[in-house]
Amino acid sequence: APQAKIGPSILNADLANLAAESQKLLDNGADYLHLDVMDGNFVPNLTFGHPMVKCLRNHIKNAYFETHMMVNSPEQWIEPMADAGVNLYTFHIEPVKDVCNVCRLVQESGMKVGLAIKPATKVSVEELARYMEVADVVLVMTVEPGFGGQSFMADMMPKVEWLRCNYPNIDIEVDGGVGPKTIECCAKSGANMIVSGTAVVGAPDQRQAITQMREVVQR
Ligand code: DX5
Ligand code: ZN
Repeated sequence: APQAKIGPSILNADLANLAAESQKLLDNGADYLHLDVMDGNFVPNLTFGHPMVKCLRNHIKNAYFETHMMVNSPEQWIEPMADAGVNLYTFHIEPVKDVCNVCRLVQESGMKVGLAIKPATKVSVEELARYMEVADVVLVMTVEPGFGGQSFMADMMPKVEWLRCNYPNIDIEVDGGVGPKTIECCAKSGANMIVSGTAVVGAPDQRQAITQMREVVQR
């Protein structure tokens, strides 16, 4: 599997101090930043969009930005997010008719593309094979998207194992309820991109939390 990376989610950080909060996470060892974009329609919550991401990019020049697009029309935000300096554009497949076409548009804009899958979404093996030809990352949700601080769904691990077994070289990301206690089974199942929100942002010692998690994924 590709090298393991830890990407804190800033969803439960102090969003009015996003630049400082993000810089602190990077200084404490974060490999990338996971930015949760919610439109109030695809999920019952609302966060921020490309104007905010663009401002954050002005403060933080060289970190790797992933936007997790929990929105009904991901194709609508490709150009603005590319312009805002996003590196990896991860969108949910559920509301999208032509997933491969949206992947192509993302890549044409110069970003990498990730495909996010909600816990209950069924994807056929044939469908998945077509997606895996074009996607750079697959994001297996380990909570119902919408809110930070929910409990990790261990029953998503067979999905991760299956993906790792069939696609040994793809980046597999997990998101939702992942922290020092739950990262072990994610790593064992084959996930190599680890999103962690409250467990890192709310930790008394962020550096220690990130270091501890990194040790688990690297062994
Ligand atoms: C949930 C978001 C996650 C979440 C992670 O909809 O996609 O990124 O903020 O936060 P924790 O780790 O607290 O579940
Ligand atoms: Zn997320």
